[in-house]
Amino acid sequence: MNVNMSYNDRRVQKAVNIYSKPLLWVYDFIVYQLATPYMLHCPADLILEHYNENIRPNHLDVGVGTGCLLKGCKQLKDIKRLGIMDLNPNSLEKSKQLLNEQHPEVYQANILKPFETTAIDFDSIGMNYLLHCVPGNFEEKEVIFENLKEHLSKDGILFGCTVLGKDINNALHTKLFLKLYQWIGIFNNAEDTHTGLKKSLSRHFTYYEVNVVGNVAFFRASDCSFL
Ligand SMILES: C[S@@+](CC[C@H](N)C(=O)[O-])C[C@H]1O[C@@H](n2cnc3c(N)ncnc32)[C@H](O)[C@@H]1O
Repeated sequence: MNVNMSYNDRRVQKAVNIYSKPLLWVYDFIVYQLATPYMLHCPADLILEHYNENIRPNHLDVGVGTGCLLKGCKQLKDIKRLGIMDLNPNSLEKSKQLLNEQHPEVYQANILKPFETTAIDFDSIGMNYLLHCVPGNFEEKEVIFENLKEHLSKDGILFGCTVLGKDINNALHTKLFLKLYQWIGIFNNAEDTHTGLKKSLSRHFTYYEVNVVGNVAFFRASDCSFL
Protein backbone atom coordinates (compact mmCIF):
# COMPACT_ATOMS: atom_id res chain seq x y z
CA MET A 1 0.00 0.00 0.00
CA ASN A 2 1.26 3.49 -0.88
CA VAL A 3 2.37 5.30 2.31
CA ASN A 4 1.47 8.68 0.78
CA MET A 5 -2.20 7.75 0.59
CA SER A 6 -4.62 9.79 2.73
CA TYR A 7 -6.53 8.09 5.54
CA ASN A 8 -9.68 8.14 3.40
CA ASP A 9 -7.91 6.69 0.35
CA ARG A 10 -6.63 3.87 2.56
CA ARG A 11 -10.16 3.11 3.77
CA VAL A 12 -11.40 3.10 0.17
CA GLN A 13 -8.60 0.77 -0.87
CA LYS A 14 -9.25 -1.52 2.11
CA ALA A 15 -12.95 -1.81 1.23
CA VAL A 16 -12.05 -2.57 -2.41
CA ASN A 17 -9.15 -4.98 -1.82
CA ILE A 18 -11.47 -7.38 0.00
CA TYR A 19 -12.82 -8.48 -3.40
CA SER A 20 -10.03 -10.94 -4.13
CA LYS A 21 -10.42 -13.59 -6.83
CA PRO A 22 -11.28 -16.36 -4.29
CA LEU A 23 -13.83 -14.14 -2.53
CA LEU A 24 -15.50 -13.30 -5.83
CA TRP A 25 -16.06 -17.03 -6.45
CA VAL A 26 -18.26 -17.28 -3.36
CA TYR A 27 -19.55 -13.69 -3.30
CA ASP A 28 -22.90 -14.26 -5.04
CA PHE A 29 -23.80 -17.15 -2.75
CA ILE A 30 -22.80 -15.36 0.47
CA VAL A 31 -24.44 -12.06 -0.42
CA TYR A 32 -27.64 -13.15 -2.15
CA GLN A 33 -28.37 -16.56 -0.62
CA LEU A 34 -27.26 -15.84 2.95
CA ALA A 35 -26.61 -12.23 3.98
CA THR A 36 -29.42 -10.43 2.14
CA PRO A 37 -32.32 -12.66 3.23
CA TYR A 38 -31.11 -13.81 6.65
CA MET A 39 -28.99 -10.93 8.00
CA LEU A 40 -30.56 -7.98 6.22
CA HIS A 41 -34.17 -9.23 6.10
CA CYS A 42 -34.68 -8.46 2.44
CA PRO A 43 -35.69 -11.01 -0.24
CA ALA A 44 -32.84 -11.09 -2.77
CA ASP A 45 -35.37 -11.28 -5.66
CA LEU A 46 -36.39 -7.68 -4.92
CA ILE A 47 -32.93 -6.50 -5.91
CA LEU A 48 -33.16 -8.20 -9.28
CA GLU A 49 -36.68 -6.79 -9.74
CA HIS A 50 -35.33 -3.30 -9.02
CA TYR A 51 -32.76 -3.85 -11.76
CA ASN A 52 -35.37 -5.16 -14.18
CA GLU A 53 -37.57 -2.12 -13.52
CA ASN A 54 -34.89 0.52 -13.98
CA ILE A 55 -32.21 -0.73 -16.35
CA ARG A 56 -32.17 0.78 -19.85
CA PRO A 57 -30.55 -0.48 -23.07
CA ASN A 58 -27.68 2.00 -22.68
CA HIS A 59 -26.46 1.12 -19.18
CA LEU A 60 -23.42 1.72 -16.96
CA ASP A 61 -22.93 -0.49 -13.91
CA VAL A 62 -20.75 0.95 -11.17
CA GLY A 63 -19.16 -1.20 -8.46
CA VAL A 64 -20.11 -4.09 -10.72
CA GLY A 65 -18.67 -6.88 -8.53
CA THR A 66 -19.15 -10.27 -10.20
CA GLY A 67 -21.73 -8.93 -12.68
CA CYS A 68 -24.30 -11.49 -11.52
CA LEU A 69 -27.15 -9.00 -11.22
CA LEU A 70 -26.74 -7.86 -14.80
CA LYS A 71 -26.48 -11.46 -15.95
CA GLY A 72 -29.77 -12.22 -14.20
CA CYS A 73 -31.64 -9.30 -15.75
CA LYS A 74 -34.53 -10.06 -18.08
CA GLN A 75 -33.49 -7.09 -20.24
CA LEU A 76 -29.91 -8.20 -20.74
CA LYS A 77 -30.66 -9.34 -24.30
CA ASP A 78 -31.97 -5.82 -25.14
CA ILE A 79 -28.82 -4.06 -23.96
CA LYS A 80 -27.22 -2.11 -26.81
CA ARG A 81 -24.38 -0.54 -24.87
CA LEU A 82 -22.99 -1.73 -21.55
CA GLY A 83 -20.33 -0.07 -19.41
CA ILE A 84 -18.85 -1.69 -16.30
CA MET A 85 -16.91 0.36 -13.77
CA ASP A 86 -15.06 -0.66 -10.63
CA LEU A 87 -11.87 0.23 -8.81
CA ASN A 88 -10.98 -3.41 -8.31
CA PRO A 89 -9.40 -5.18 -11.33
CA ASN A 90 -10.61 -8.60 -10.09
CA SER A 91 -14.23 -7.43 -10.20
CA LEU A 92 -13.73 -6.01 -13.68
CA GLU A 93 -12.09 -9.19 -14.96
CA LYS A 94 -14.78 -11.48 -13.54
CA SER A 95 -17.75 -9.40 -14.70
CA LYS A 96 -16.21 -8.83 -18.12
CA GLN A 97 -15.95 -12.61 -18.57
CA LEU A 98 -19.53 -13.15 -17.42
CA LEU A 99 -20.90 -10.43 -19.69
CA ASN A 100 -18.61 -10.92 -22.68
CA GLU A 101 -21.54 -11.38 -25.08
CA GLN A 102 -22.51 -7.75 -24.36
CA HIS A 103 -18.97 -6.55 -25.24
CA PRO A 104 -18.77 -4.24 -22.22
CA GLU A 105 -16.81 -1.01 -22.13
CA VAL A 106 -14.54 -1.44 -19.09
CA TYR A 107 -13.62 1.45 -16.81
CA GLN A 108 -11.34 1.20 -13.78
CA ALA A 109 -12.08 4.19 -11.55
CA ASN A 110 -12.65 5.33 -7.99
CA ILE A 111 -16.12 6.83 -8.03
CA LEU A 112 -15.22 9.22 -5.21
CA LYS A 113 -12.99 11.09 -7.65
CA PRO A 114 -14.01 12.79 -10.87
CA PHE A 115 -12.64 11.04 -13.92
CA GLU A 116 -12.46 12.00 -17.55
CA THR A 117 -13.45 9.12 -19.77
CA THR A 118 -15.54 8.27 -22.79
CA ALA A 119 -18.12 6.84 -20.37
CA ILE A 120 -20.73 9.46 -21.14
CA ASP A 121 -24.44 9.63 -21.97
CA PHE A 122 -25.60 6.44 -20.30
CA ASP A 123 -29.39 6.30 -19.90
CA SER A 124 -29.19 4.29 -16.70
CA ILE A 125 -26.53 3.88 -14.06
CA GLY A 126 -26.85 1.00 -11.58
CA MET A 127 -24.90 1.08 -8.33
CA ASN A 128 -25.90 -1.86 -6.26
CA TYR A 129 -24.49 -2.54 -2.79
CA LEU A 130 -21.82 0.08 -3.39
CA LEU A 131 -22.65 3.08 -1.17
CA HIS A 132 -22.28 1.07 2.05
CA CYS A 133 -18.70 0.13 1.04
CA VAL A 134 -17.63 3.75 0.70
CA PRO A 135 -16.18 5.58 3.75
CA GLY A 136 -17.95 8.54 5.36
CA ASN A 137 -21.53 9.58 6.01
CA PHE A 138 -23.93 10.40 3.18
CA GLU A 139 -22.84 14.04 3.09
CA GLU A 140 -19.33 12.82 2.30
CA LYS A 141 -20.44 10.01 -0.01
CA GLU A 142 -22.76 12.15 -2.10
CA VAL A 143 -19.86 13.41 -4.21
CA ILE A 144 -20.47 10.09 -5.98
CA PHE A 145 -23.83 11.38 -7.26
CA GLU A 146 -22.14 14.52 -8.52
CA ASN A 147 -19.42 12.50 -10.27
CA LEU A 148 -21.79 9.97 -11.79
CA LYS A 149 -24.14 12.63 -13.16
CA GLU A 150 -21.33 13.49 -15.57
CA HIS A 151 -21.85 10.05 -17.10
CA LEU A 152 -25.65 10.11 -17.22
CA SER A 153 -27.74 11.40 -20.11
CA LYS A 154 -30.03 14.40 -19.40
CA ASP A 155 -33.10 12.25 -18.72
CA GLY A 156 -31.14 9.25 -17.42
CA ILE A 157 -31.83 7.39 -14.19
CA LEU A 158 -29.49 6.42 -11.35
CA PHE A 159 -30.59 3.49 -9.20
CA GLY A 160 -29.44 0.81 -6.82
CA CYS A 161 -29.62 -0.29 -3.24
CA THR A 162 -27.46 0.01 -0.18
CA VAL A 163 -27.35 -1.42 3.34
CA LEU A 164 -28.27 1.11 6.04
CA GLY A 165 -26.35 1.01 9.31
CA LYS A 166 -28.20 3.44 11.58
CA ASP A 167 -31.75 4.17 12.80
CA ILE A 168 -32.94 0.77 11.68
CA ASN A 169 -34.74 -1.58 14.00
CA ASN A 170 -32.19 -4.38 14.07
CA ALA A 171 -32.38 -7.87 15.46
CA LEU A 172 -29.39 -8.81 17.61
CA HIS A 173 -27.84 -11.08 14.95
CA THR A 174 -28.11 -8.24 12.40
CA LYS A 175 -26.44 -5.77 14.76
CA LEU A 176 -23.59 -8.23 15.31
CA PHE A 177 -23.29 -8.88 11.58
CA LEU A 178 -23.12 -5.14 10.80
CA LYS A 179 -20.60 -4.49 13.58
CA LEU A 180 -18.38 -7.35 12.35
CA TYR A 181 -18.47 -6.16 8.70
CA GLN A 182 -17.78 -2.57 9.82
CA TRP A 183 -14.90 -3.70 12.00
CA ILE A 184 -13.33 -5.71 9.12
CA GLY A 185 -13.82 -2.70 6.81
CA ILE A 186 -16.21 -4.39 4.33
CA PHE A 187 -19.02 -1.99 5.31
CA ASN A 188 -18.57 1.72 5.99
CA ASN A 189 -22.20 2.41 6.83
CA ALA A 190 -22.31 3.09 10.58
CA GLU A 191 -23.72 6.59 9.89
CA ASP A 192 -25.93 5.69 6.91
CA THR A 193 -29.61 6.46 7.50
CA HIS A 194 -32.75 6.49 5.34
CA THR A 195 -33.11 10.27 5.89
CA GLY A 196 -29.45 10.90 5.07
CA LEU A 197 -29.78 9.07 1.74
CA LYS A 198 -32.94 10.99 0.83
CA LYS A 199 -31.30 14.34 1.66
CA SER A 200 -28.21 13.52 -0.40
CA LEU A 201 -30.27 12.46 -3.42
CA SER A 202 -32.43 15.60 -3.12
CA ARG A 203 -29.34 17.80 -3.41
CA HIS A 204 -28.42 16.27 -6.77
CA PHE A 205 -31.65 15.16 -8.47
CA THR A 206 -35.07 16.71 -9.05
CA TYR A 207 -36.92 13.42 -8.60
CA TYR A 208 -35.96 10.64 -6.22
CA GLU A 209 -37.45 7.70 -4.35
CA VAL A 210 -36.13 5.66 -1.44
CA ASN A 211 -37.88 2.53 -0.14
CA VAL A 212 -36.53 0.47 2.70
CA VAL A 213 -37.00 -3.29 3.05
CA GLY A 214 -35.35 -4.76 6.13
CA ASN A 215 -31.93 -3.07 6.27
CA VAL A 216 -31.75 -2.43 2.54
CA ALA A 217 -32.61 0.95 1.00
CA PHE A 218 -33.73 0.84 -2.64
CA PHE A 219 -33.32 4.14 -4.44
CA ARG A 220 -33.72 5.72 -7.83
CA ALA A 221 -33.19 9.28 -8.94
CA SER A 222 -33.39 11.38 -12.07
CA ASP A 223 -33.80 14.93 -13.32
CA CYS A 224 -36.64 13.69 -15.50
CA SER A 225 -39.83 12.41 -13.84
CA PHE A 226 -40.10 8.64 -13.70
CA LEU A 227 -43.27 8.66 -11.55
C1 LIG B 1 -20.38 -5.18 -2.42
S1 LIG B 1 -19.69 -5.23 -4.04
C2 LIG B 1 -21.18 -5.02 -5.01
C3 LIG B 1 -21.14 -5.81 -6.28
C4 LIG B 1 -22.43 -5.81 -7.10
N1 LIG B 1 -22.80 -4.48 -7.55
C5 LIG B 1 -23.55 -6.43 -6.33
O1 LIG B 1 -24.53 -5.75 -6.02
O2 LIG B 1 -23.50 -7.62 -6.05
C6 LIG B 1 -18.94 -3.65 -4.18
C7 LIG B 1 -18.13 -3.43 -5.43
O3 LIG B 1 -17.86 -2.03 -5.51
C8 LIG B 1 -16.48 -1.82 -5.76
N2 LIG B 1 -16.10 -0.54 -5.11
C9 LIG B 1 -16.08 -0.27 -3.79
N3 LIG B 1 -15.70 1.00 -3.58
C10 LIG B 1 -15.46 1.54 -4.81
C11 LIG B 1 -15.01 2.83 -5.25
N4 LIG B 1 -14.72 3.79 -4.40
N5 LIG B 1 -14.92 3.04 -6.59
C12 LIG B 1 -15.21 2.05 -7.48
N6 LIG B 1 -15.61 0.82 -7.12
C13 LIG B 1 -15.74 0.56 -5.80
C14 LIG B 1 -15.78 -3.04 -5.16
O4 LIG B 1 -14.52 -3.26 -5.77
C15 LIG B 1 -16.80 -4.15 -5.46
O5 LIG B 1 -16.57 -4.74 -6.72
